[in-house]
Amino acid sequence: MPSSRITGSGSALPKRVVTNAEMATMVDTSDEWIVERTGIRQRYIAGEGETTSTLAIEAARNALDDAGLTSADIDLIVLATATPDNTFPATATKVQHALGCHGGIAFDVAAVCSGFLYALTTADSLLTTGMAKRALVIGAETFSRILDWEDRTTCVLFGDGAGAIVLESPDVSNPAQEGGPGVLASRLHADGAQHDLLYVDGGPSTTQTVGHLRMRGPEVFKHAVVNLASVLHEVIEDAGISSDQIDWIVPHQANKRILDATARKLKIGPERVVVTVDQHANTSAASVPLAFDTARKDGRIKPGDLVMMEAMGGGFTWGASLIRM
Ligand code: UT7
Repeated sequence: MPSSRITGSGSALPKRVVTNAEMATMVDTSDEWIVERTGIRQRYIAGEGETTSTLAIEAARNALDDAGLTSADIDLIVLATATPDNTFPATATKVQHALGCHGGIAFDVAAVCSGFLYALTTADSLLTTGMAKRALVIGAETFSRILDWEDRTTCVLFGDGAGAIVLESPDVSNPAQEGGPGVLASRLHADGAQHDLLYVDGGPSTTQTVGHLRMRGPEVFKHAVVNLASVLHEVIEDAGISSDQIDWIVPHQANKRILDATARKLKIGPERVVVTVDQHANTSAASVPLAFDTARKDGRIKPGDLVMMEAMGGGFTWGASLIRM
């Protein structure tokens, strides 16, 4: 099966950095507790005029520049977010308009922290079946706008940001080749029975309010380690590789201890795990593409590398994709 390939990436962060020390002036917490339990040292928080769409647009422009393309080349935009600018229309259509892309397909995907994996897999399917030729796949969030800023068990964990990739269909530049770049295997899962462990207590059809994020952290933690290890093994088996062939894991950045535990289960050393949770905290759907762009731009992820992306979040939803760069 021909597969689509990543030809560019970009990211965007709000201007304002909030350190753990500043968080400790808002709720009963400390830099020591946050670093020890999560690995987070700071997060970026959107200010006036910064929204999910403005961050997404900046990340998308950076990804287009990186790929050497213009908006006219894009005929598909899939945007993963749990914090859209408006209930409707899809934030993807705002991005489409701002970039000046005309026609084509644009829609949002709601799978919370796994959203980017869901968006990537959906875009890959549309590209490989010929529905589109070049896609922007974006993860963008302003989680600060759905946090309960008086709940220390959640408000210290999240941040805002956006990441984007350009994904091109196999027949645009040159045909897929054995051992060449492309999305090699992907798996997605959901389990709606776990709704109450991680959810937002509002919405248009229930409370007519935006609501706040609620999480039973320790229980989510246990599910995350088990589900991620399981989906990673599935993708490794589907691709017919062994875990020692993986050059980089680009995980969802929820908690450094989850990253470490998942890598240990796969017998992958910490030197092959991309970690940005210390800088960005948990940016939900934005965290994987933000981490990916960081590691590409600083030269860690190189052409030819085998990269595993993985994420798990509210729903529960979880998934992983193996990509040859
Ligand atoms: O992105 C979606 C997926 N999300 C995740 O994967 C998150 C998964 N969960 C986690 O990352 C961790 O469970 C947390 C970071 C949320 C919590 O870490 P933990 O080690 O599981 O701590 P805990 O909830 O068991 O709390 C330990 C103690 C409690 O006090 P007592 O009962 O032992 O006296 C909490 O009240 O730490 C207390 N605590 C805090 N203390 C200072 C909870 N939050 C804070 C805080 N500052 N911010």
